[in-house]
Amino acid sequence: MKISVIGCGYVGLVAATCFAEMGNDVVCQDIDGEKIRALEGGKVPIFEPGLEELIKKNVRAKRLSFTVDFEKVVLHGEVIFIAVGTPPRDDGGADLSYIENVARGIAAIAKVPKIVVEKSTVPVLTGERVEQVLKCGNGNAGKECIQHMVVSNPEFLREGSAVKDFLEPDRIVIGTNSEKARAVMEKLYAPLKAKIVFTDIKSAELIKHASNSFLAAKISFINAVANICEKTGANIQDVAYGMGLDKRIGASFLNAGLGYGGACFPKDVDAFIWIAERNGYDFGILKEVQKINRLQRALFAKKVEDILWVLKDKTIGVLGLAFKPNTDDMRLAPSIDIINALQKEGAKIKAYDPEAMERAKTVLRGVEYCNSMYDVAKDADALLFLTELDEFRKIDFEKVKKLMRQQVICDGRNMFNPAELRSLGFNYVSIGRV
Ligand code: UDX
Repeated sequence: MKISVIGCGYVGLVAATCFAEMGNDVVCQDIDGEKIRALEGGKVPIFEPGLEELIKKNVRAKRLSFTVDFEKVVLHGEVIFIAVGTPPRDDGGADLSYIENVARGIAAIAKVPKIVVEKSTVPVLTGERVEQVLKCGNGNAGKECIQHMVVSNPEFLREGSAVKDFLEPDRIVIGTNSEKARAVMEKLYAPLKAKIVFTDIKSAELIKHASNSFLAAKISFINAVANICEKTGANIQDVAYGMGLDKRIGASFLNAGLGYGGACFPKDVDAFIWIAERNGYDFGILKEVQKINRLQRALFAKKVEDILWVLKDKTIGVLGLAFKPNTDDMRLAPSIDIINALQKEGAKIKAYDPEAMERAKTVLRGVEYCNSMYDVAKDADALLFLTELDEFRKIDFEKVKKLMRQQVICDGRNMFNPAELRSLGFNYVSIGRV
């Protein structure tokens, strides 16, 4: 099939590459010429396991190409995926101006009916607007009327396993009011042999926001329970295990820690609250989800302060900066708030993250970046684990103990066994475990 993808960001790039891998003829467009030149030269602007090899393979096989030419991408595909950014606005809503511009562009250029697919995460009722823009008369007066078809096909990929998530999805959601578009989308995804949910556009849009918000709520819920565990002496890992065995609850996303960060959950929860409000509903439960998430970071910084007492001129080592393992993504990472809070009290921060240090340098000021975990531990008054990287699990605590000034470990991801760490002579704190 001839496929066009507009937007070479996270979602667009992964989708375009995977559609090419599935045997389609894919053109992927972005307005950022530098990005396109880099991609043409085989350089991938994001860190995502397996993606670079797959891009190179499909470019070589001539199934995947990149362009800045909007007209070319619109004319190419029978199906056009819109995967442009929907950045958050100050009021929590999503900025949909890029989506609107693309829809207008398609309406102006396309000469035959296209299947126009929303791939970016958008609030419910966006598809309706896209349909209006694509219709004749909406800025296209005088042009011969072409009946484009609109589909909502949200993406559920996680950073770090995006290619696998795309090619082996739990489900594919296809929302459309057009029989033809439904049949074409079904054919496009058939090779994945995945469960497909067919529905209308609005319901598909809501499935995305509701899914991400539900997962964020699960995380905040378990973090709230972790706080009760700390106050009462219970163990959050046992509590989560006991809860998760109930099939109705499920074991995943019940890891207490520093809460969620990244480009999706915070933004999607905000946008869901916003669109609910616009439609006359106060989504109070989600406001609380966000509040718990913010509090979790502040409580962790407070824990460090409680142990070290005066933070001024103390040296604090930080292991892990990215919002989760195996990514260099620093967007809304807990490390940012925690480091800022400690710096505000006068602490000196040393840090190490195998992937994220370059990006961290653009958002964190006054941090001494180190080349290894042990460089961070040297002369530190406390060592903080903020991202659960496998490399950190193998740390030699006997060595660390000798390097540190004070033997304090603050584990924000419950990576280690409290009894073991205490028997080694550390003052050890974690989340929801005493
Ligand atoms: C998420 C969704 O999983 C994905 O479906 C959507 O398309 C985009 O948003 P991602 O942001 O890549 O993906 O990360 P994910 O692995 O889901 O983790 C999100 C955050 O929640 C991370 O900060 C992680 O540390 C945190 N988390 C996750 C917890 O704190 N506890 C858990 O049990 C699970």
